[in-house]
Amino acid sequence: MADKPIMTTSGGAPIADNQNSLSAGPRGPLLLQDYQLLEKLAHQNRERIPERVVHAKGWGAHGTLTITGDISAYTKAKVLQPGAQTPMILRFSTVAGEAGAADAERDVRGFAMKFYTPEGNWDLVGNNTPVFFVRDPLKFPDFIHTQKRHPRTNLRSPTAMWDFWSLSPESLHQVTILMSDRGLPTDVRHINGYGSHTFSLINDANERFWVKFHFKTMQGHKHWTNEEAAQVVGRTRESTQEDLFEAIEQGDFPKWKVQVQIMPELEADKTPYNPFDLTKVWPHADYPPIDIGVMELNRNADNYFAEIEQLATSPSNIVPGIGFSPDKMLQARIFSYADAHRHRIGTHYEALPVNAPKCPVHHYHKDGAMRFTPNNPNPAAYYEPNSFGGPVEDNKFLEPPLRISGDADRWNHREGNDDFSQPRALFELFDPGERQRLFANIAAAMGDIPDFIEERQCKLFDQVHPDYGAGVRAARATVKDRNPSISAPTDQLLSDASA
Ligand code: NDP
Ligand code: HEM
Repeated sequence: MADKPIMTTSGGAPIADNQNSLSAGPRGPLLLQDYQLLEKLAHQNRERIPERVVHAKGWGAHGTLTITGDISAYTKAKVLQPGAQTPMILRFSTVAGEAGAADAERDVRGFAMKFYTPEGNWDLVGNNTPVFFVRDPLKFPDFIHTQKRHPRTNLRSPTAMWDFWSLSPESLHQVTILMSDRGLPTDVRHINGYGSHTFSLINDANERFWVKFHFKTMQGHKHWTNEEAAQVVGRTRESTQEDLFEAIEQGDFPKWKVQVQIMPELEADKTPYNPFDLTKVWPHADYPPIDIGVMELNRNADNYFAEIEQLATSPSNIVPGIGFSPDKMLQARIFSYADAHRHRIGTHYEALPVNAPKCPVHHYHKDGAMRFTPNNPNPAAYYEPNSFGGPVEDNKFLEPPLRISGDADRWNHREGNDDFSQPRALFELFDPGERQRLFANIAAAMGDIPDFIEERQCKLFDQVHPDYGAGVRAARATVKDRNPSISAPTDQLLSDASA
């Protein structure tokens, strides 16, 4: 006993008995003065914070980013200079499921990184896909509602998903990726990560370049078919957590090759597609990926809640030499994440150890929940400007002016936009086996949606490639033959709604 620390209350006082509550006689009742019991129950009641509104189920680990290439001509960011080694943390996730969802589900995987750079935290909050379902953030909440539970049935609704997708042709590219082999990875060591948005790099001469970040798995890609995944979920709901945690515990550290694509600033006016449109990639032939280093995960969290659940990553966290772009989706995300963190974790969430920068921090935010950090060195300097030596701005960090033009309007993002060529390029990459699995996965995911939605969606697939539409129609016919109850226009939800 002597070598074990004495248990204390959270106030630090020793605890004499942690087995028996304080009662009047052996049979009770209990005494209100048993504050240890009250504290224990009260703490338990507060053990959960709201789960993330999206990407609630996640798995993460700490690691290192090592830069081996030289892109100093494009960026002054210290984190991207040759030889830089930066500690980081990565949280992977699925998008739609709740915190207790099974891991082996067909869904996009989140790929959210925080790099603790000497110039502040740089967060790259990406996915395992280079594109997204929508290109205007006004549609993000609507899209997410179709992925979450139906208000009446409390079930996920294929009707809602395919209704929305079939009315949103810009989703075709991402839907094709989601329904392809890569939509159901065996785990997260075998996926790529993409910053997805276009960002900017700024060099010492204060010149701007546009950039896309890619993280290519060095473990290779591995996927499950729907049938294999169903068996996995029957065996364990935590297949990804088990895989990642065990690999790192055993010293089998997963690695990703880090690449960038770089576009000179003025070329953005000349590409045949909008390079700030999140439903598009930059073709490799036009902007070849440049290898710049390796990212490795090499340390499990000691406390999942403290380090992974309370992790707060936000596209708004940039550092000198890395900037934003006009991408409308990115612009909305710059607002949305910190707002979510203040709600989900609390006002001073950035002071928690996992979120705190590993460089000095000097700001003038004042009170609020979780304010445990000390004052500025001089307590009289608690506003700005002040005469008492408080921290000041330094305009050497100003970014070059961003060229913008145009009338303020609600510009129709669908007008003149080619939603078909890039999904076609992807479809043409698939071998016959991959195409058949794509068709089968779509046919299965459509469940019992109404015929008119199915047909509207197939017409979009036709425009990507005639074989795509035909393949899905054939796969749907097979599904319906096997399950005659799927005879489309009788979708229960729709008839409920119109009754
Ligand atoms: P490339 O042939 O140069 O590149 C094809 C890319 O497709 C590779 O990066 C490959 O990733 C990726 N890929 C292969 N299978 C899948 C899949 N099932 N789901 C998602 N990605 C996959 O062609 P382009 O650059 O001209 O692009 C053609 C199409 O490839 C695009 O329309 C896009 O759909 C897709 N793609 C393009 C990317 C880009 O940045 N240009 C990035 C990712 C996808 P890997 O290297 O890991 O094998
Ligand atoms: C999580 C909003 C698009 C990747 C979240 C969260 C919000 C959000 C509110 C929860 C944050 C938290 O509680 O910590 C939005 C909005 C979007 C958008 C408003 C579009 C307008 C995207 C895109 C990507 C993405 C395009 C990827 C390219 C992620 C990831 C997480 C996340 C990976 C989980 C972060 C983590 O692991 O902590 N998003 N999102 N989101 N989002 Fe988005």
